[in-house]
Amino acid sequence: MWAPLVLLVLASWQAFAQVPLPEPPFLPQNASAGASASSGGIPNSQWSSMLGNLLYFYEAQRSGKLPSTNRVKWRNDSALTDGQDVKLDLTGGYYDAGDFIKCTFPLSFTVMSICWGATDFGKGYDLANQTPYLDDMLRWSLDWLMKAHAANNTLFVQVAHDELDNTYWGGDRGIPLPRPSYQINDTSPGTDAAAGAAAAFAACSNLYANRVFSNSYSGPATLQNATYAATLLKHAEQLFTFATSASGGQTVYQHSVPEAGVAYASSGYGDELAIAALFLSWATNSSSLYQQAQGYWQQYDLGSYNGVFNWDFKTPGLPVLFAQIAQANPSFGGNASTWQAVAEKYFDGIVYGGGPGYQTHGGLLYYDGDSDDASLNPSLNAAMLLTRYVPLASTQSRRNDYLNYAKAQVNYALGNNPMQAPYIVGANPNSPQNPHSAMASGGNDISNINTSPPQEAYVLYGAVVGGPDKYDRFFDLRDDWPETEVALDYNAPMLTLAAMHVLNDTADPFYTLLKAGTYDSKKPQGMPCDEAHTEGCGGPQLNQGGKIALGVIPGLTGVAIFSLIGWWGMISLRREHDLLY
Ligand SMILES: *[C@@H]1O[C@H](CO)[C@@H](O)[C@H](O)[C@H]1NC(C)=O
Ligand SMILES: *[C@@H]1O[C@H](CO)[C@@H](O)[C@H](O)[C@H]1NC(C)=O
Ligand SMILES: *[C@@H]1O[C@H](CO)[C@@H](O)[C@H](O)[C@H]1NC(C)=O
Ligand SMILES: *[C@@H]1O[C@H](CO)[C@@H](O)[C@H](O)[C@H]1NC(C)=O
Ligand SMILES: *[C@@H]1O[C@H](CO)[C@@H](O)[C@H](O)[C@H]1NC(C)=O
Ligand SMILES: *[C@@H]1O[C@H](CO)[C@@H](O)[C@H](O)[C@H]1NC(C)=O
Repeated sequence: MWAPLVLLVLASWQAFAQVPLPEPPFLPQNASAGASASSGGIPNSQWSSMLGNLLYFYEAQRSGKLPSTNRVKWRNDSALTDGQDVKLDLTGGYYDAGDFIKCTFPLSFTVMSICWGATDFGKGYDLANQTPYLDDMLRWSLDWLMKAHAANNTLFVQVAHDELDNTYWGGDRGIPLPRPSYQINDTSPGTDAAAGAAAAFAACSNLYANRVFSNSYSGPATLQNATYAATLLKHAEQLFTFATSASGGQTVYQHSVPEAGVAYASSGYGDELAIAALFLSWATNSSSLYQQAQGYWQQYDLGSYNGVFNWDFKTPGLPVLFAQIAQANPSFGGNASTWQAVAEKYFDGIVYGGGPGYQTHGGLLYYDGDSDDASLNPSLNAAMLLTRYVPLASTQSRRNDYLNYAKAQVNYALGNNPMQAPYIVGANPNSPQNPHSAMASGGNDISNINTSPPQEAYVLYGAVVGGPDKYDRFFDLRDDWPETEVALDYNAPMLTLAAMHVLNDTADPFYTLLKAGTYDSKKPQGMPCDEAHTEGCGGPQLNQGGKIALGVIPGLTGVAIFSLIGWWGMISLRREHDLLY
């Protein structure tokens, strides 16, 4: 009597072609839920909710025809003609940030980062009951990347013109046309974009195939599917061949597609070649690919780089991955202790000082230049890599110091900062109210995006915003994109970190301590100091003889001012160095 029902259930599972989504679905709770303590334990329900919200953000960014399982009720089908200009179906995928372009290079990085994280700390997704949504998010990305990889040596790297950002502010039903499709191909290559996509496919193939690096970690999220893993691997191999042997040679992708250089110009391709070769070496059990990756490290002098880890610069992740694989498979001929030393030189520079980053007064890891737009991203990516590296560290003191440093950066992002604001939308009553997102704002007056409408129409739950300025000030202005924009890659490191905390942390995320109103009482006057606004930098006064314009900093006590003088002196020196060199 039950047999037909069982068959029906099995059939519907197959129709999903993926891990079945929970019924009823997970939905974000009102921000007020983030202001009360959980009952602790593992998994901690606050960390689990945060992980769920971080994934929910991606669902809000979906392009194309939305499935019946769509949880973001204020989203509509959109951009349904993408690809028609090249007679292909390029619908789907994700909008990159607060606007409506689709960008392959940062998407590839995002997906690579999340798959790598879900291979190491994947049981955190399982414990939080978020693995079905992780699978859903990854497939929405990877299925689109497969469409974008339209032929062996063709990869679409952008859909829609970047100018869209400056000319259209409105909802998902009025996105203007045309939306041109931009490609790299055999004669007009893009080594970085092809290798970056290869790295994403290979990293995710490892996850779907259950190819774990080591049992120092929790193990992968339970979404394994050998068929899907094999398909991903095929794309990875083809794209890597495209990257290494296009007849047009090797070059950065904006050389072939200048339009793609407007928002996401790449600084080089040696790091993408190396990381793609590494993930592929693991996927195919190939010591020669591992050796090839070591060759790229030498050839492109990657060891001399000590800056940020992000969509452009993958180098800081390489020693960690080299060490993980060398340790897991000594037959590849890698020397785990050599890579350990390289990784620790970089991490020591962050944690003990000596690297190009420094800590703001409030404790945020900050890199002049890179952090002037989306300051939390360098910090959270460093925290993510440090956390992942901890089990490999050579000394107990490093294990402690790296983990504590990473936790402090995470706490900063979650509200332990001078603004007493957690920088995830909808996490707590003090979260940002004005993310730079055309869709969430509900406005359509591009010349008045800050005030029209006065309150954003929709809460963009789970979005990590850009972050504060170098003076730890967050102004919560919609037009201040360096501070308030949201983006696919901003959420990526926080996902891996949250998965780790779900596994390992009985204490709540910092924001549960923040009652409604803390941010309002700290909210700064005046204007920020970042790439969109320099009004609040106070720079000219400082650089001309070190005079300090006290008037621009309201409400400071005398003691604080004295401690700031030394700090500002350092910043002003650094600025002059920037100008000189
Ligand atoms: C595995 O993935 C393939 C490709 O997406 C899909 O067709 C198949 O149904 C999946 N199998 C399971 C058991 O989910
Ligand atoms: C989706 O469509 C509805 C109905 O027209 C509209 O109210 C809503 O704002 C749209 N969503 C976006 C993101 O534009
Ligand atoms: C190859 O890519 C270039 C740069 O995007 C483009 O101009 C050209 O039309 C493409 N070639 C083909 C055959 O589509
Ligand atoms: C990887 O290759 C080595 C050497 O060829 C072999 O001994 C080992 O069994 C392979 N591992 C896997 C998982 O296939
Ligand atoms: C790895 O390199 C270190 C020096 O960094 C050396 O002492 C050690 O012998 C090497 N190990 C192997 C297995 O080659
Ligand atoms: C997680 O907890 C285990 C056991 O308490 C510990 O050994 C491990 O180092 C922790 N990992 C991280 C990344 O905190």
